[in-house]
Amino acid sequence: MTDKLDEMIETAAAMVAPGRGILAIDESTGTCKKRFDSIGVECTEENRRDYRHMLISAPDLGEHISGAILFDETLRQSSADGVAFTQIMQDNGVIPGIKVDKGAHPLAGFDGEKITEGLDGLRERLNEYYELGARFAKWRAVITITEDNPSQACIDANCHALARYAALCQEAGLVPMVEPEVLMDGDHDIQTAYEVTLLTLKTLFDQLFEHNVVLEACILKSSMVVSGADCPEQADVDEVAEATLDCFFNTVPASLAGIVFLSGGQSEIEATEHLDAMNRMGDLPWPLSFSYGRALQASALKVWGANPQNNVQAAQAELLHRARMNGLAAMGQYESKLEQE
Ligand code: 13P
Repeated sequence: MTDKLDEMIETAAAMVAPGRGILAIDESTGTCKKRFDSIGVECTEENRRDYRHMLISAPDLGEHISGAILFDETLRQSSADGVAFTQIMQDNGVIPGIKVDKGAHPLAGFDGEKITEGLDGLRERLNEYYELGARFAKWRAVITITEDNPSQACIDANCHALARYAALCQEAGLVPMVEPEVLMDGDHDIQTAYEVTLLTLKTLFDQLFEHNVVLEACILKSSMVVSGADCPEQADVDEVAEATLDCFFNTVPASLAGIVFLSGGQSEIEATEHLDAMNRMGDLPWPLSFSYGRALQASALKVWGANPQNNVQAAQAELLHRARMNGLAAMGQYESKLEQE
């Protein structure tokens, strides 16, 4: 595996190179329909293609975007004039990535909890994705906080699946992005989010170690430690940054290639401010960057939806702006006055 390992270590480093992060556009067809419903666009294959083409062909996207995570359908698509999406991305300096899990399903015996499925046949699918041009993969586990949850069983089952997925990725030459998302839904306080995230990450890295996953060729995609969306007392930017970093310092080995965040329902500005605050807090053992879906796309989606034929450039400008703001935040150099430029 040495040649493959060298390539994966190089890819992982490129994914979190200074001032660059990941664009998550791997919405399943169901999630994409929800986004398109919000802008009044029909969720047809052609519209999904045109929207994603608009995003990946934004001029100089690669300046602040190192890679993009695609859904299976998107990895196989081409532009209306026949250029493969993977080619457009490579020409734009953006590494193709692929979501490979089969979604979060109810965990039998545990009311309200989820287990991510998709391990069956994964080896074959990963080999095909590599052939198609993908160089990293993503698997998302969902941890839900309520009065009684999460259970240890839910955390164990999801982390075990993440580790098996990660080992299969590295066998196929793909950098695994392991994503345990602690949901911000609920009225829990930030301390509860901290404890759940701490336990989840501790379990995850124990499992990755047991499954011989090489951390230098692995990326963690984490939620931030935030107050529940319905908690009456909302932690401020510095509290979020401190709690999140504290969690990582206690669980994440320094050899990991990098950490990127999901936005999970935060606004575009919040997601940028939180990332910036963490990177300003001093020397960190790992690069800390972004892998946002909604927090990179929200404004671009709105502008594109207003007139998909004519607003391509205006929507691309929105995406490029957020990419630049988050690229600066990944270096702790974001300033809110730059939002007006
Ligand atoms: P959000 O940033 O919208 O949470 O999406 C990121 C992602 O990839 C979730 O799996």
